[in-house]
Amino acid sequence: MKTLEELKKIREEARKTVDIRKNKKGTRIVVGMATCGISAGARPVLKALLEEVQKRNLEDVVVTQTGCIGVCRLEPIVEVYRPNEEKVTYVEMTPEKAKRVIVEHIVNGNVVNEYTIGAYED
Ligand code: FES
Repeated sequence: MKTLEELKKIREEARKTVDIRKNKKGTRIVVGMATCGISAGARPVLKALLEEVQKRNLEDVVVTQTGCIGVCRLEPIVEVYRPNEEKVTYVEMTPEKAKRVIVEHIVNGNVVNEYTIGAYED
């Protein structure tokens, strides 16, 4: 696993890329990074999202972090906001799942239903 310093660097680079596009309305991917999120593995998820977005040179996609999202037991949690669409909440994320979300949801526009919070609710 990467150190915190390395993650900071990745984040800074992502931020630079994002700044240029700040004025456009695009997709926002938010990772819950409260204590529970981090202990559940949110850092590698955040890193995978950033890497995948950069690798694919996705324009208008911003990856940010937030604190508590409110559902500790389902962390790591990733929320996707796309213009004119309902927010999608992905739970129990892993770096592999995160990459799949980028490809299927962000690139191709298909929500990965089996990872959403809806799939976990009775
Ligand atoms: S502290 Fe875990 S979701 Fe808020």
